[in-house]
Amino acid sequence: MKGLILCAGRGTRLHPFSYSQPKTLLPVANHPVLHSCIRKLREVGVDDIGIVIHPSQVQIPPLVGDGSQFGATITFIEQKVPLGIAHAVQLAQSFLQDEPFVLLLGDNLLMDSLHGLTRAFERTQSDGVVMLSEVERPQDYGIAEVKDGRLICVEEKPKQPKSNLAVIGAYLFTKPIFESIATLQPSARGEYEITDAIQSMIDRGYHMAHAITSGKYSDVGTIDRWLEANRWMLEKEVGYSHQVGTSSVLENCEIVGPVLIGEGCHIKNCRLGPFVSVQDGVQLENCVHIENSILLENSSLKNVDWKLTDSVFGRSSHLTGQSTDSIGVIILSDKSSIRIPAVKREEL
Ligand code: G1P
Repeated sequence: MKGLILCAGRGTRLHPFSYSQPKTLLPVANHPVLHSCIRKLREVGVDDIGIVIHPSQVQIPPLVGDGSQFGATITFIEQKVPLGIAHAVQLAQSFLQDEPFVLLLGDNLLMDSLHGLTRAFERTQSDGVVMLSEVERPQDYGIAEVKDGRLICVEEKPKQPKSNLAVIGAYLFTKPIFESIATLQPSARGEYEITDAIQSMIDRGYHMAHAITSGKYSDVGTIDRWLEANRWMLEKEVGYSHQVGTSSVLENCEIVGPVLIGEGCHIKNCRLGPFVSVQDGVQLENCVHIENSILLENSSLKNVDWKLTDSVFGRSSHLTGQSTDSIGVIILSDKSSIRIPAVKREEL
């Protein structure tokens, strides 16, 4: 069985961070989401993996290499125009050939393993399997209708969803999916939808099985969901404690886990946590309290005398300043710099 991971999407909902790097490389608990997808495939024995990228995403190949760091072989496939998931699968046909394959969306994080998907395939001897999970906002997803234990309908972002069971970016397909894709017309958003291809499989009498996961799942497609995924991944990886890179120095700090601190950081007189991830090379000094936040490589914060929460600091960004008002949330793009003046509200 082969694997296919899609990374070529634009990531517009994650601007400004996805301007400078593909969203599948944004770190969750300090690891790119894409690495987690590769590991999930390896866990179910898939080692021949195709990754669909846009030609501008030059950062992806060096971060993945030839796959040997994961015990896999990686083949890159280019999608020059982002025309949807089904279009990306079609472009990968010559790589996938006639073998069954697991398809993952490169910005989706799953807590559970993919065994549910592969076991359902073996058990049902079906023509494909779709992984489903209950979600709170079904209108934002491809939604499945299951009747008498059988998947009978899938609909892309329906206004009146028939259930709250969402298609969550993990699929297993066999060869007939290519015939279904060949019949598709672009959807209202101008994309060739994999949901429509699955519906076409069902309509043509193929058996599409489903596997429901109750494990956590996040489509890291917006800043809120990125922070949410970071929270549960930190909880899973670090527990209610903290991990600090061996070359990092902490002086007079109070850390409330889960907190993850990379290498080469210097943190002095700060309170951090819970749910904070700090990438390599971050410098923090005199920060009253940072919680539920992501600090990307080489960002620096100094003399921040109010509590920061739900914030993201881009690579090499700088924040300094004192404020008598608390500005809880700060989103700083890569290389940007902000100095908050020490003035009272009534003086402004
Ligand atoms: C895509 C799929 C949708 C699926 C979702 C999961 O949506 O089209 O069916 O439920 O991923 O994240 P998109 O992220 O393109 O809006």
